[in-house]
Amino acid sequence: MAEKTFYVTTPIYYPSDRLHIGHAYTTVAADAIARYKELRGYDTMFLTGSDEHGQKIERKADEAGKEPQNYVDEIVATFIDLWDRLGIDYDQFIRTTDNNHEEVVQEIFKQLYEQEDIYLGKYEGWYCTPCETFWLDRQLEGDEKVCPDCNRPLEWVEEESYFFKMSKYADRLLKHIKDNPKFIQPESRRNEMISFIESGLDDLSVSRTTFDWGIEVPVDTDHVIYVWIDALSNYITAMGYKRDEAKFNKYWPADIHIVGKDILRFHTIIWPIILMALDLPLPDQVFGHGWLLSDTGKMSKSRGNVVDPIELINDFGRDSIRYYLLREVSFGTDGIYSTEALIQRINSDLANDLGNLLHRSLSMVEKYFSGKIPEPSEETEYDSSLKEVGAETVEKAAEEIEELRYTRALEEIWQFVRRANKYIDQTEPWILAREEENRERLGTVLYNLLESLRMIGILLKSFLVDTPGEIGKQLGIQAEVKNANWDDLAWGGLPAGRTVEKGDPIFPRIDLEEYYEEKEELTDVDDKQEEEKVEEEGLISFGEFQEVDLRIATIIAAEKIEDSNKLLKLQVDLGDERRQIVAGIANYYQPEDLIDKQIIMVANLEPAKIFGVESQGMLLAARDEENEELTIISPAKSIKTGSSVS
Ligand code: ME8
Ligand code: MG
Repeated sequence: MAEKTFYVTTPIYYPSDRLHIGHAYTTVAADAIARYKELRGYDTMFLTGSDEHGQKIERKADEAGKEPQNYVDEIVATFIDLWDRLGIDYDQFIRTTDNNHEEVVQEIFKQLYEQEDIYLGKYEGWYCTPCETFWLDRQLEGDEKVCPDCNRPLEWVEEESYFFKMSKYADRLLKHIKDNPKFIQPESRRNEMISFIESGLDDLSVSRTTFDWGIEVPVDTDHVIYVWIDALSNYITAMGYKRDEAKFNKYWPADIHIVGKDILRFHTIIWPIILMALDLPLPDQVFGHGWLLSDTGKMSKSRGNVVDPIELINDFGRDSIRYYLLREVSFGTDGIYSTEALIQRINSDLANDLGNLLHRSLSMVEKYFSGKIPEPSEETEYDSSLKEVGAETVEKAAEEIEELRYTRALEEIWQFVRRANKYIDQTEPWILAREEENRERLGTVLYNLLESLRMIGILLKSFLVDTPGEIGKQLGIQAEVKNANWDDLAWGGLPAGRTVEKGDPIFPRIDLEEYYEEKEELTDVDDKQEEEKVEEEGLISFGEFQEVDLRIATIIAAEKIEDSNKLLKLQVDLGDERRQIVAGIANYYQPEDLIDKQIIMVANLEPAKIFGVESQGMLLAARDEENEELTIISPAKSIKTGSSVS
């Protein structure tokens, strides 16, 4: 019987900057399906890498005063380091500067040229260097020539270029997409791609003469191969295309390309057409996931809102980050990263639900059975219902993971976790422990708890790196969990008689305020420097002051924010609308004393989530640091709510 193989890819990332949490999101998602397929006995090939050519990188290297190759070498090393720290279990890492890749891409180009799918022509158009995208006049709105994707200025470019005959294959592609509903996922994006193709495909410019940092066009050394033929081909050059037939036939076509929605079009239109022209089968599926946004929009270095994954890993541990990324945002739609939500997940799901279950169960095994896993005996209703939930979880989790619905898969697993916690309350082992005659029953209850934990540990192997092993270790079955595959998820696999090794709680709780206080101390130095800079620059203009929309608001409701010592949640009336704001005044005011008070509010402040609570503005307050006093600022006499302050 032929071996089952599974080939999954991430995009290859540009080494123009360090990677941010958005890239980690894609890669962790690919890692999860790869780990899952491995558990299911597939010979899994998980490919990631770096996309190193192009004008943008040439310019960046130049700005840094480095040779492009040295420049990319340094950044690619940071990619590999990040993937190691995140526990990404990729099988191969391709760099588009690898000799093999460069040579095979040249052969691909030559073949397409010789069969007249590529021809020499001339290109005129508006070019966005950062996005490496051409825009036609009709695609631009208004007279201002800015990129519709990133809003940066476009450059007019006129050059000789080789073109790829996309139009020739448009009908075949459309048919393929329509005949294969799973080819483009999720569904909504599939429809977008269909309308795009139906609106007509232009031939694609595939070479450049305006920069050098690229693979030379084999038939014309004035040109370098422009990004997409170079980049997309990585998925086959890495699998030995035109070099290692056995490997290529084993893994190609890919089972799934996972990409962000911004590059879905390239993967579902250009890439399949290249493959058709090469007479190669198409990948089974291209999955376009959403973006991970920061509360100020898509993360990008130029906007200064990138979240550094290394910092998060150092602060919270990789499994917490992985769990958050896969659990919080449903894969496919856009989601918002927030540290508050991350800490919330760690505390409630990981520390509370899972961590406590393990700790409580092991404490009882230590206390009542000197740490030895008891034998189970006769089953009651509670037991069979727990078992049933376990079996259902295994099945449902599999269904969800297969469709990359990680959020739902993890929800299923957590229902099992919560069910096991409830089982403790139902069976009350501490009461059973009082009577010697209940000893068998007590043993069964504890066995069932540990068995549930064993299964949960194995289920988590698709998502988390260290936790399954840690659960296994504490249960005294580290090797078993490490070597377990999906078939070991049948109830009863836990060997009785082993000695458990209770350790520290696997996920310590994190205090949000303490976390921020520590962070503030660390960033104080930076802030000081920033403040000094502002001071040097001096005064603000009246216009700058006027940009702040200050208004009189009346507080209509106030309450403490749970778990926070400092924060109050206020509902305020602004005259023509109501707003919710979060204010750090809980140490100075009782909520009930604030009702009907008038305050001065910054009404045009960007909304933000504070402690997971939406805040749509801020109130003005004065602070006396020395005496630790604070007062909110109110108008000297009552005035109409909504009045502007100037
Ligand atoms: O596009 N949220 O490389 P790239 C989620 N080299 N995902 C994000 C993200 C965010 N905020 N930001 C980036 C390229 N990504 C090309 C790909 S493939 C043959 C060539 C993810 O470094 C997302 O998957 O700009 C996006 O498509 C990918 O990173 C692109 O990274
Ligand atoms: Mg592997």
